[in-house]
Amino acid sequence: MNVADPAALLARYARNLPRYTSYPTAAQFTDAVGPDDARQWLRAVRPGDPVSLYLHVPFCDTLCRFCGCNTAVLRSADARAAYAALLIEELRRVVELIGTGHPVSHLQWGGGTPTTLPVGTLRQVMQTIRSSFAVLPDAETSIEIDPRHLPAHYPAVLRELGFNRASLGVQDIDPAVQEACGRIQSLEQTRACIDMLRNEGIGSINIDLIYGLPRQTVAGVRDTATAIAALAPDRLAVFGYAHVPWKQKRQNLMPTGQLPDPAARFAQRAAIHEALCDAGYMPIGLDHYSRPDDRMATAAQSGTLHRNFQGYTTDPAEVLIGVGASAISSFPQGLTQNAISSAAYARLIGATRDCLPVVRGVRRTPDDRLRAAIIERLMCDMAIDLGDVIHHHDLPRDHFRDEIRALAHLEADGFVAISGQRLHIPEKGRPFLRHVAAVFDRHLDTDRPQRHASGV
Ligand SMILES: C[S@@+](CC[C@H](N)C(=O)[O-])C[C@H]1O[C@@H](n2cnc3c(N)ncnc32)[C@H](O)[C@@H]1O
Ligand code: SF4
Repeated sequence: MNVADPAALLARYARNLPRYTSYPTAAQFTDAVGPDDARQWLRAVRPGDPVSLYLHVPFCDTLCRFCGCNTAVLRSADARAAYAALLIEELRRVVELIGTGHPVSHLQWGGGTPTTLPVGTLRQVMQTIRSSFAVLPDAETSIEIDPRHLPAHYPAVLRELGFNRASLGVQDIDPAVQEACGRIQSLEQTRACIDMLRNEGIGSINIDLIYGLPRQTVAGVRDTATAIAALAPDRLAVFGYAHVPWKQKRQNLMPTGQLPDPAARFAQRAAIHEALCDAGYMPIGLDHYSRPDDRMATAAQSGTLHRNFQGYTTDPAEVLIGVGASAISSFPQGLTQNAISSAAYARLIGATRDCLPVVRGVRRTPDDRLRAAIIERLMCDMAIDLGDVIHHHDLPRDHFRDEIRALAHLEADGFVAISGQRLHIPEKGRPFLRHVAAVFDRHLDTDRPQRHASGV
């Protein structure tokens, strides 16, 4: 990057962009797609085809002010158990459409904080899954955990239910930042949580960090990254704080006047990157890091990494079934999303005996599928040979002429290298991966910019 005037350069790249966890992105979802489409796309899954499962729990023990997720505190254990019963009912309706016995190699629980479910109900949902799907013996079975609130009896239950991975939120260890975010979490709490999980054999640990939060500094995020790397997680996800107060009003409760500017965010990202690489982690795509011997690193090196709503994954399944409020499902034909709030989700499940709680989505055209594949390879491999794509799909030689022209300014800034029709993103272009992907996004102009967070 042009260090002479980084602020001017970043200003040119400061547009709001999707994170491309799908294409088309969620900004294109409308109610023109609904439960009938979901039903048809589930019916089209052939017997024996692998599927992945994602289960969403929109509850937390306390709310963090920075959090962009749709989540709430639900004190009543009975109400949380009732939600788990809805998950079981939705699973029953899904299985009625796709049939039993589909192999599952990836099963993820996310939120919110799924460990807010009473253990008995988590057990019931897992039993339903295991009796309806063929969960493979080495399936990646993971759960998101808030280290401040993991009940002491939970890790043993997770092991008993076959969980082998956990993802823990940390964000930043500086008390001043934590105070600004309303999330007080000592390093000791994080360490104790990792120990509890590892003692139960849940060996694979991911940790989430965030840069760009109020009061964060370059030195502070470097200290956080170094201290967290010393806990030896297998993977890390390093997110740029997404400031979306139009969607999450609680973000305004933070001292937003103390948010770092784009140049400071950029420097913080670079400092975390350097600290994690120095500690032996391998950067993966836009925002992940893994130990070099981790499955994710192997997949990244062999071109078999994938990207879905949970970020980067080694999951090759073409069909992802999301269960629970706001959960998104992905099919070759399109994407669907369930009712967003848990109340609306409960109403839809309760209203009929067999209707799916889907409220919106998008169909994929053949062009969307082609572009989805290009964007996924760019986000995962940081390279693509458009000549190969053209050859494979029997397209005219100059099919991507406009896109290659549109990459000129990224090429001039050294963020993408173009040789014939081959694109390669060098290390210095990594923070601008989304800008390269956006060139292939036919729908971006029709997105409302406020649907996305800052691209740097
Ligand atoms: C769905 S949360 C679940 C984690 C778990 N509940 C916890 O707090 O430990 C997953 C991650 O999303 C990230 N996240 C949430 N809000 C964000 C925002 N506004 N910008 C960037 N990342 C965010 C945080 O890193 C968080 O750990
Ligand atoms: S970061 Fe985790 S605990 Fe905090 S509000 Fe978001 S989902 Fe809940």
